[in-house]
Amino acid sequence: MKITVYGAGPIGLTTSLGLCQMGHQVLCIDIDQEKITRLQENTMPFYEPGLASLLEAHLKNKSIQFSYHFSQGLENSVHFIAIGTPNIKGIPQTSSLEKLTTDILSANPDHYVFIKSTVPPGTAECIKKSLISLKALSSKVKLISHPEFLREGSALQDFLKPDRLVFGGVDLNLEFLKSIYPGIASDKFLLMSHSEAELSKYLANAYLAQRVSFINQAAFLCETFDADIKFIKAALTSDHRIGEKFLNPGLGFGGSCFPKDLQALNFLATTENFELPLVQSTLKINDEQIHRFTEKIESYFLAHQLKKKVCLWGLSFKPNTNDLRESPAIKVLKNLLKLNYTVHVHDPVSKNEFLKLFSDQITNNSVLFYKDPLKALTDCNALVLATEWREYKEIPLSSIFKNLSYAALFDGRNHFDKAEALKLGFYYAGVGR
Ligand code: UGA
Repeated sequence: MKITVYGAGPIGLTTSLGLCQMGHQVLCIDIDQEKITRLQENTMPFYEPGLASLLEAHLKNKSIQFSYHFSQGLENSVHFIAIGTPNIKGIPQTSSLEKLTTDILSANPDHYVFIKSTVPPGTAECIKKSLISLKALSSKVKLISHPEFLREGSALQDFLKPDRLVFGGVDLNLEFLKSIYPGIASDKFLLMSHSEAELSKYLANAYLAQRVSFINQAAFLCETFDADIKFIKAALTSDHRIGEKFLNPGLGFGGSCFPKDLQALNFLATTENFELPLVQSTLKINDEQIHRFTEKIESYFLAHQLKKKVCLWGLSFKPNTNDLRESPAIKVLKNLLKLNYTVHVHDPVSKNEFLKLFSDQITNNSVLFYKDPLKALTDCNALVLATEWREYKEIPLSSIFKNLSYAALFDGRNHFDKAEALKLGFYYAGVGR
C-alpha cells in the first residue's frame, strides 16, 4: 500500500519507518525543510533507538521518501496525520491538523485519513461537519481517529508489537485496517466511535500519569514516617490487580505528552463547566515533586555550609531519548541555577539540545556540559541523579565517591543502592527512602 505520513517527529517518523517495515511504500512529509533534507541524506533528526538503521535500510530499498511539499502527499490515497498539536496556555492547538485534514478530504473525498495526533474529543466530528457544510462529502467520509500509544525510547517496538490499535469512526472496514497492519492479531484491533477513540488516548495517559503521582505521594508518606518506598512498592505490586508498571517513584513525569494531555483535559473540563479533581491533583503532585527535591538539596547545602557546586547526571525527560521537553531534570537544574548553584551536567545523548537551551548560562559559566560523567564530578560537593540512564548504573559508586569533593548523593530516581552508598560514606537522599 502507498501511504503518506504527515509529520517527521518522534511519532511521524516512527510510524513512517514502522509502516515501511510492514511492507508499505511511505512518503513522509514535514514542513521543516532542514529536517527533511537531513532525513533524505540519512541523518536522524533526533535520538530514538532502532530508527537509524531502519532509515538507512528503507532509504536504500526506496520504500521511504521524504518531502516538504504537502501537495505531493495527495499522490497517495491513504494518509496518516502525525503533526503536533501543542498546547498554548493549556489549550491544544488543532487548527493546522483540521486544515490539513479538510484540505485532503475536500480535494479527494474517497481518500482515507487517519488522525494519529492527539486531539480533544469532538475534533473528528467537527472536521466532518465542516466538510459536509463545504459539500465536500457525505457523513460516510473515510476519516478515522487512530490515536497513537507509542512511548519515546521504545517507540519502534511499540509500533511493531502494539498492545492495541484503536480506530474511531463510522462503518470501519476491519479487513482494510488489518491490511495496513499485517501480522497483528485480530484481538488487538479495537473499533469504536471518534470521540471514544479520542478520549481513550487522553485517559490512558491520564491514568498512567496518575499512577506516577500516586507512588510519588506514597514516597512522601514514607519520608514522613521513616519508611522505605522499596518495601511498600513490593507489597503493592505483588497484588496482580495493581501490577508493577508506572509505579517508580522519582522526580515525576515529563515529556511532551503527559503534562500536555493532562492540561488539555483540565481545559476541556473548564470549557464544559466541570472539574476533574484527579487530573488536577496528578499535576499538582507532579509539580511539588520538583520543589521538594530541590529543597532537599538546598537545605542540606545550607546546613553543612557547602560551596554550591553540584554535578547533575541525566537531562532528558526519561532514558533512551534526547527529548528535553518538560524534563524534570531540566526543572531541577533551573531551580538550582536560581539558587545560585554552579552545575556540571552530563547526559549520554542530549548534548546538542542542552547547549541550545542553556546558551546564556554556559556563557556565564554557571553550567558546564561534560562528555565524561566521572570528570563532571570534579570539584563538586554532590551528585544529583535526575534521569536513570542505564549507563550510570554501570559506574561503581566507589568511583563516584572518589571523584566528588564532598560525598552527597541526591538520587532523584532511586537509581543507586542506598545501603552500598551509606557503607561507602555517602550522605544519601532518595525519593521516599
Ligand atoms: C507516554 C505514554 O506512555 C504513551 O503510551 C503515549 O503514546 C505517549 O505518552 C504519547 O502520548 O505520545 P512517553 O511520554 O514517551 O509516553 O513516556 P512514558 O514512558 O510514558 O514516561 C512519561 C514520564 O513518566 C517520564 O518522565 C518518566 O520518567 C515518568 N515515569 C514513568 C515515572 O516517573 N515513573 C514511572 O513509573 C513511569
